[in-house]
Amino acid sequence: NLYGVVLAGGFGTRLWPLSRQGRPKQFIDLLGGGRSLLQQAVDRVVDIIPLDRVLVVTTERFAADVAAQLPDLAPENIIAEPCGRDTAPAMGVAAEIVSARCPDAVVVNLPADHYVADGERFRAALLTAAEAAYDHPVVAVLGVPPTFANTGLGYIEVGADTIEVGDRTLLEVARFTEKPDAATARAFVDSGRYLWNANYYTFHVDTFLASLAEYAPSLYRALAPLRGTADRAAIAQVYATVEAAPVDTAMTEKASNIYVLPADFRWSDVGNWNELYAVLADGWAEPDGTVVVSPRPELIIGIDASDNLVLQATPRPIALVGVRDSVVVDLDDGLLVAGRAQIQDIRQVVERLAEVA
Ligand code: GDD
Ligand code: MG
Repeated sequence: NLYGVVLAGGFGTRLWPLSRQGRPKQFIDLLGGGRSLLQQAVDRVVDIIPLDRVLVVTTERFAADVAAQLPDLAPENIIAEPCGRDTAPAMGVAAEIVSARCPDAVVVNLPADHYVADGERFRAALLTAAEAAYDHPVVAVLGVPPTFANTGLGYIEVGADTIEVGDRTLLEVARFTEKPDAATARAFVDSGRYLWNANYYTFHVDTFLASLAEYAPSLYRALAPLRGTADRAAIAQVYATVEAAPVDTAMTEKASNIYVLPADFRWSDVGNWNELYAVLADGWAEPDGTVVVSPRPELIIGIDASDNLVLQATPRPIALVGVRDSVVVDLDDGLLVAGRAQIQDIRQVVERLAEVA
């Protein structure tokens, strides 16, 4: 009765020009190896969740991309939202549909935009979280020890209460803070009492829907047309009224039944170019040197250059002279030159482009 719900409706705009509104990062083979992040998200769990129990939730606009990338996924397991309303409605809809199919199901939320090393440990962690969520009325999450003051993630303050599953221990979440500002993130990391939320929400469908009823009552009410039925027509009704909200602020920040399993696998949400740089450089601390992704890396020339990420699709010479800590992404439909210290600001590029387009 373990179900996987893959959320694949985000945009990944901080990875412009590679990822963007019409081509979000989850559909791109960002890490090499011939599989997109979405395909990798499914590949990672097939050993523990058979494909007939994997649902992918995405916006209508990308439903065909999901079907093309996951040809073995049954059409009824692709849930198309009429429009993106962020993760709380997407997870609510998925929970109602899974609950209608299997009222005793435990769901694990699988983001479609992550890099995970150590697949075995990752799967073991998911199974532990699922067991905790089956035996207790809690929402279990996986927490990653923070390595820097990343403002693009949720932070978990660990409390004293525990749940034991075999030889693993889940810790009570004392407080959850979604995407704090830089100073707050710094203080959280320095305190040593926080973990990053890796966004693998794991819950019994009853627990999750009860949490929505308590903490996000308007969302819970909006989901009513789907209750007890897996009827697709009801999805349009839900989206006609539902408000956009990430689950992290709609539910997690308010709830008191969240427990975290500290992760022992290496993970990145590849949320921006710096993180891709770190993953590709295969370092979790600050790696050194330049990372080149190109069909012909020998055409990338560095002279007195270091700590740069250079990525291109069509080979042509690129020269970096006296350039450090920068990102150059050279694609046929856009060129990015950015300082790595300001990588989060790339979001603004996408907003500006939307204004002039
Ligand atoms: N179906 C659907 N519809 N999926 C969505 C939507 C939507 O409207 N919006 C986002 N998603 C998908 C994204 O494609 C991604 O796979 C996942 O849901 C998470 O959404 P993001 O928008 O990428 O969230 P985030 O990365 O900023 O923050 C979340 O993940 C972090 C870890 O990666 C939060 O849970 C943070 O607390 C967490 O640290
Ligand atoms: Mg993300």
